[in-house]
Formats: sequence, structure tokens, C-alpha cells
Amino acid sequence: MKVFHAQSQLKQHLQPFLKAKQTIGFVPTMGAIHNGHLSLLQQAMNENDVVVLSIFVNPTQFNNVEDLEKYPRTLQKDLELTEALSNKIIVYAPTVDDIYKGNTVAQNFDYDGLDNEMEGVNRPGHFDGVGTIVKKLFEIIEPTKAYFGEKDFQQLQIVRKMVQKNNMNIEIVGCPIFRQENGLAMSSRNERLSDQAKEKAAFIYKTLQSAKDLFNDKDVKDSVNFVVDAFANEVDFTLEYFIIADEASLKTATVKEPGKKYRGFIVVHIEEVRLIDNIALN
Ligand code: PAF
Repeated sequence: MKVFHAQSQLKQHLQPFLKAKQTIGFVPTMGAIHNGHLSLLQQAMNENDVVVLSIFVNPTQFNNVEDLEKYPRTLQKDLELTEALSNKIIVYAPTVDDIYKGNTVAQNFDYDGLDNEMEGVNRPGHFDGVGTIVKKLFEIIEPTKAYFGEKDFQQLQIVRKMVQKNNMNIEIVGCPIFRQENGLAMSSRNERLSDQAKEKAAFIYKTLQSAKDLFNDKDVKDSVNFVVDAFANEVDFTLEYFIIADEASLKTATVKEPGKKYRGFIVVHIEEVRLIDNIALN
């Protein structure tokens, strides 16, 4: 399997594919590869001539130094898991310097307010960091399609906006959330949970599914109250938020409007790990 640490070498390697107008599928990650990432890679392989995986813990999207330091870095294991899926996948695992050239700062983006909701509220600058790294990676790799998990749905919509505003000719593919058998959404953060907590966390998806059922014939506030009450009775969890929002604008909904698509977004803490999930409601 080809693994590049320098963008100049990666670009050189990709040049013939671009010249031959072959399609390049791109899966950006911060490593700690799990089955969710592997499912993105599989989809990218099904739909493209070549697939590039990036593994890079991007400093500019962390607004908390401790979080950045604690983020798992497991390159050797990541490469083994990737190679077991296919040794044809091209890996780009750059250093901070290869990406930022000594200027590790985020660019400012205008996402038409998408970044003022939910995850943007408590993590100022986070989405500027995401936009900065994704744009840089797109410019280096020049993919035909790029794959993002719907678990970070706000990120997915923000990347779509960034691509549109910068007139980038890249198709952004949103992929369904990959779940453990018990419903827990796959995440690198799950590694930090005890087995017991992983089992208990099944409650998150179960509650989201019940909220979806309620949403069919009740008001927005009924679904919201249901989730808030459900977590109030669970001592192991702290609910940070449950919000029902319009998929396109990500603005919090208070009433259902015809023709709009809604999603329920949740953040829950268990064993001091912050878990995020969401569900399409209609
Ligand atoms: O979702 C992630 O892992 C990261 O935010 C991404 C898209 C790889 C950018 O660093």
C-alpha cells in the first residue's frame, strides 16, 4: 500500500490518474480508523477508479489544547486496517508542517450562518478549522467525489457550502451513520468508553428512534420534551442538547413547515465522553 507523508510526492503520484481523467474518491479522516471509516472507503472504492484516504489530526479545528493532545494517534494500526480492506488505497498521512508550512492558523469562512448553530456555538472557530483543512486537502488531491459521514451532519452541510462558495468541482457524498449492533454510532471517541458504557449508550439511538416515531404525528416540542425527559431519568448520562432542526439551514425548528426536512441532533455525555448522534425525522 502506498503511504505518503509529503504532499509533493502524493501529487506526483496522482498526476497520471488526473491526466487520464480517472475518478478519484477521497475519504478525509483524523485516523483512529473504525468500521464507519472503512464503510466510507468501501463506498469510495465502489464508485471511483482510485481512492485516497487522508489521516491527519488537524490542529486548527480544536479549540481545546487538551482535546487535541488527547486525540488518539494510531497510525500503524490505521494502516493495517486500511490495508486489510484494500492495498490499492492511497494513504496521505502528512505532518502539520507539510500542510500548514509553519503557519498553523485557520482561514475565516462564510457559511451563511450554518456555523452559528449547534456544534458551532460551543466550539468557536471549529468549523473554520474544518473548512481550512478540507479545502487544503481538496486542492492537493483534486478528488472527483469526497465522502463524509452523516454522524457529523453539520460538518457535512458546512463542507457542501464551502465547496459551493469556492466553486470547487467536487461532489460531496453524505454517507449513512454506521452503527454498532446495539445502535451506538461508530466514533473514535467510543474507544474511551468502558464496555458497560458502550452497552448503556444503546439508549441514545433507541431514544432517537422513539422521538422519530413521535415526530410523525405530534408537535416538535412533544418530541423534544420526550427526549429531555428520557435523559432526565438516566443517571449515567448528561444531555447537553437535543435539537430538532431544518436539514438545510440547521436552524432550530419550533413548528413543522410543509416541504421541509427535519433532523433530531443530540449531544450526550457518558463517562466524561461527549457523544454526538442524529436522526432523520421525516
Ligand atoms: O470528521 C473528521 O474526522 C474531520 O473533521 C475531518 C473532516 C477529517 C477534517 O479534519
